[in-house]
Amino acid sequence: MPAAGLGAALLGGCTPSQGVMADVDRVLSISLGQAESHPSYGSLVTFGERIAEATDGRYGARVYANNSLGDQQETVQLVSDGAIDMAVISGTQIENSSPRFLPMNVPGAFDDIDHQNRVMLDESIVGDLFASLEPDMRLTVLGGYTQGGRHLYTVGGPIESPEDLAGMKIRVQESEIFLRLIRNIGGVPTPLAYSEVYTALQAGVLDGAENNEISYVTQRHYEVAGHYTRTNHLVGFDFLLASTDLLEEMEPRDEQALRAAWEETQSEFVEIWKQETEAATEEMLENGVEITDPDPEAFGPIISETGLSILEDPEDLALYEAIRAVAEDGGAS
Ligand code: GCU
Repeated sequence: MPAAGLGAALLGGCTPSQGVMADVDRVLSISLGQAESHPSYGSLVTFGERIAEATDGRYGARVYANNSLGDQQETVQLVSDGAIDMAVISGTQIENSSPRFLPMNVPGAFDDIDHQNRVMLDESIVGDLFASLEPDMRLTVLGGYTQGGRHLYTVGGPIESPEDLAGMKIRVQESEIFLRLIRNIGGVPTPLAYSEVYTALQAGVLDGAENNEISYVTQRHYEVAGHYTRTNHLVGFDFLLASTDLLEEMEPRDEQALRAAWEETQSEFVEIWKQETEAATEEMLENGVEITDPDPEAFGPIISETGLSILEDPEDLALYEAIRAVAEDGGAS
């Protein structure tokens, strides 16, 4: 028998405001790296409510925000071991577990979040990939949340071109793509966990970082790095991992209910993301952030070349081409 989820063990201490449904038989634990103010938190709470409703209270969920169950790489292992039921993991972290996900993370793969969403819902592209971690790691990818377009931000600025980044230490996620990207656009890539970025910017250990508007605002990084440069170097994705043992242990009707609840939750998130990005941008301006839109020629060509330079394996190139073909269809699917 797989270990009971951590959420079940901790149920006694929960209050409704912590994102847990009362009166369900089994509380599924979901790990998230974001603060409660990030839209993925509210969305996961709704997911838990939908599960409870659709399973007549046989299952519900509790969302653990702020990486309180461990940083993303640790939670991959915890879900794999069955100690946590589900976790939201940045594409870069899943790529560290399986290089097959690499084409999903490269600059230039997705034009925008609508294109990304069409790809992520296309079984012919993602079906085998999402099941590929099941045999060895007992991890099932259910889908995920967009990270939107990612941009640069710096303590000093504005940044108009790669020359302005010379010698600047820019925080990156622990990933080869990001190391290469920041190096190619002129900065000094500095891998660091998400939760440590604010303090490192404040202490002057970092000169900048890169992320979407919503993370920048909900992590309050604008307080310590007030120059935001919209490079749009990558449209990122956060994957939702579930324990394969959990899914197999559920009655088929409950597993189907969980998957349907997730599908609804993922689909509505794309519009939520657009609205929240606008709200975050307004909040940035209200807080005196200087937003720079560089000449597309300054960073664009380097960004595209970096993306393609990392894909060598024919299987990776085939997946990348399948992703690009969806963009060229122009949203017909
Ligand atoms: C985004 C993303 C997270 C990721 C973070 C980071 O916020 O949604 O999953 O951890 O960027 O830069 O580390």
